[in-house]
Amino acid sequence: METLTDPAVIDQMTPIPFRVRSVREELSHTFTLELEPPDGAFEFLPGQFTMVYAFGIGEVPISISSSASQTGTILQTIRRTGAVTHALGRLKSGDYVGIRGPYGTPWPMDDIEGRDLLIIGGGIGLAPLRPAVYHALENRDDYERVVILYGTRTPDDILFEKEQRSWGDRTDLSTLMTVDAADRGWNGAVGVVTRLIGRVGFDPANTTAMVCGPEIMMTVTAERLIEGHSMAPENIYVTMERNMKCAIGVCGHCQFGSKFICTDGAVFPFPEVAGLFDIKGV
Ligand SMILES: Cc1cc2nc3c(=O)[nH]c(=O)nc-3n(C[C@H](O)[C@H](O)[C@H](O)COP(=O)(O)OP(=O)(O)OC[C@H]3O[C@@H](n4cnc5c(N)ncnc54)[C@H](O)[C@@H]3O)c2cc1C
Ligand code: FES
Repeated sequence: METLTDPAVIDQMTPIPFRVRSVREELSHTFTLELEPPDGAFEFLPGQFTMVYAFGIGEVPISISSSASQTGTILQTIRRTGAVTHALGRLKSGDYVGIRGPYGTPWPMDDIEGRDLLIIGGGIGLAPLRPAVYHALENRDDYERVVILYGTRTPDDILFEKEQRSWGDRTDLSTLMTVDAADRGWNGAVGVVTRLIGRVGFDPANTTAMVCGPEIMMTVTAERLIEGHSMAPENIYVTMERNMKCAIGVCGHCQFGSKFICTDGAVFPFPEVAGLFDIKGV
């Protein structure tokens, strides 16, 4: 069995310096890094993540939020929570971060061609879903209906708002947005994102749902799709977020029973992880 001190493992865990091309503030606590790979291209699949190293501070898993067809730079959208993400948020254009990956399972874009696609994001959960949206739009004929539902706390917390509104102007997809609490300037929907599900047309028997957001939101959404809309649980995909160290299935840091979140996920069919959502920390 491999350990973290094996030379081959150390080699796999050595980050590669990526240049920061730009830093864009998205929301009050959320920013997007645009990163240039040293050899000009970085291949990944929608839904995968990288380990991002703030030199001298630490390393964290972050999903890629850009299109997998644009390999010249990658975007990573990050919420400031603790030491590492705050350090990443202080980076400037021309600085460097360490990147390794891509890691993890992708959204099942190829397996679901010909089906309706229901993409449901909560808060910053839209970031890991955005590559799936781009893939569906770039390969629009491969899917039937494409529906994007988004919920967040307040109108000030809407991630990628301008882009979401541009998706709303398209005739080849349906989008709906809601906030938990509105202010006086908001004339859109108010309430949790699950309330939007009944307002859009999709064929539950021929639909695959991809859901990303806080665990409670993913659980409630999956239950609503199963109980309220008779969707088969295996057609619902969710992501698991847990603390990670190696991200290559060696350290056991992210292990849940027989599953390693880093290599068996982080994208899972709902039935594989439904029982794990309320188990805290590893
Ligand atoms: C596969 C995967 C993909 C992710 N993608 C993104 C992303 O696209 N954008 C983004 O902003 N974040 C993402 N995260 C979460 C991100 O890794 C954590 O926010 C980060 O590790 C926090 O590190 P820190 O040192 O800044 O904060 P810490 O000081 O480590 O933690 C600050 C707070 O965040 C909590 N926390 C720490 N790590 C995690 C975690 N992995 N999941 C949930 N809560 C955590 C802690 O309990 C604490 O409350 C992802 C996590 C995983 C596992
Ligand atoms: S992070 Fe080491 S096994 Fe998953």
